[in-house]
Amino acid sequence: MTGTEPAITLGGMSPTERPTVYVETYGCQMNASDSELMLGTFAARGYTPVDRPDGADVILVNTCAIREHAEQRVFGRLGELKRHMARDTILGVTGCMAQRLGADLLRRAPHVSLVVGPDGYRALPALVDGARAGARAVDTAFHPDEHYEDVRPRRAAGVKAWIPVQRGCDYRCTYCIVPTTRGPERSRRLADVVQEVRDAVAAGMTEVVLLGQTVNSYHDGTADFAALLRAVGAVPGLRRLRFTSPHPNDFSTRVLAAMADTAAVCEHVHLPMQSGSTRTLRRMLRRYTREEYLRCVDRLRTAIPGLALTTDVIVGFPGETDEDFQETLSAVDVVGFDDAYTFKFSPRAGTPATRLPAEETVPDDVASGRLTELIAAVRRRGRARNVQLLGTRHEVLVEKRARRGDALQARTRDFKTVLLGPDAAAVGQYCTVALTGTTGSTFTGVVVDSGAARRRTALPLAAG
Ligand code: 5AD
Ligand code: SF4
Repeated sequence: MTGTEPAITLGGMSPTERPTVYVETYGCQMNASDSELMLGTFAARGYTPVDRPDGADVILVNTCAIREHAEQRVFGRLGELKRHMARDTILGVTGCMAQRLGADLLRRAPHVSLVVGPDGYRALPALVDGARAGARAVDTAFHPDEHYEDVRPRRAAGVKAWIPVQRGCDYRCTYCIVPTTRGPERSRRLADVVQEVRDAVAAGMTEVVLLGQTVNSYHDGTADFAALLRAVGAVPGLRRLRFTSPHPNDFSTRVLAAMADTAAVCEHVHLPMQSGSTRTLRRMLRRYTREEYLRCVDRLRTAIPGLALTTDVIVGFPGETDEDFQETLSAVDVVGFDDAYTFKFSPRAGTPATRLPAEETVPDDVASGRLTELIAAVRRRGRARNVQLLGTRHEVLVEKRARRGDALQARTRDFKTVLLGPDAAAVGQYCTVALTGTTGSTFTGVVVDSGAARRRTALPLAAG
């Protein structure tokens, strides 16, 4: 931003006053990253991002449509936001729910002026101008070449950068709304991704997370995900490289070799399993069997010793029997996940799963019972694993002040959360900690070396 940009004149506002924009984000990291792009688009037009909705000139709610519950929350929030709007505030809804509901959203929420899907964000400031003149607008067109390359994201303050490398999804898992809301898969050019990583490192970030719906199927026409990992991992000053979420079928031998060879790649993979039953996996159109998933786990663990694994699991998919669910429980046991995000199946209009025979619907009380049982199994495994880690030493990156209290929140390379005393280290610092306690999921620790003993990286401490 420079002071030479033209000031934007809004109703009741002096020409020198900068308009404000507030973005509230729901859902996945891709959405969080999209919000940073939206803020970048508005900042380039002279807006000031603010972190409270009260009286902001523009309020955007960046939404998620993955489960019914997520959408209900947004409708509730849209109602609440009425109280925070000034007379001239423009309220817009963006993201997957905007894409899914389109004009219907304008009808259901009359105080909303704009409904814009994931490929339409560069037009947002212009649409806001139109809305000031009274035009309500819906833009849900897909633009398969849209990667917002010329938009400088306005990143949230922090020590790591989330960098989209791929948009959309070409898988067609039968429960999933994402291919409908985010359109076909496309990858950014490797050189553009590397440049963004360089910029993030120059801005002081030492960790990046590459984002894509099936991130390891990345291919820009020339380079595959293996080439991308190697290129990003070679950026001077980058110390930690993560990616999310991969699909089990896209871990080629090349990708595994690149992970093993690239020192910055962290020893953690989030590998969505969805179900441990081949029969259910087939009906979900996941394109792998239980055995193939387990083989993928083995290959990953062979390539990266000490690898931590987390996953996503859905229970209550139509037709899921008790035997199928037992297979899921046993897969959780066999793999020994470090953690899992667990979901009750939520039917999404327009997805193939909603066309399965009604008699296959799993009753809600059965699905809830399975969810409770699954969560308990995941916790049991995780706790047993974590208790064994007490006393061990790890390199952590201090990420931020913890939400409650004044402790510092740090993370190991294998994605464990460690709480440190308020004066133990500085945000952004790498240090070695000993794990002293665990709640079962998170740890407490003490700093034993304020310079980090890195396990795999041999890069100099000072970032370039
Ligand atoms: N119902 C429940 N969970 C779902 N997910 C995706 N679609 C649905 C749905 N219709 C879960 C999957 C995915 C995660 C992001 O959300 O587990 O990996
Ligand atoms: Fe949805 Fe499957 Fe694509 Fe993931 S891979 S976004 S679950 S369709």
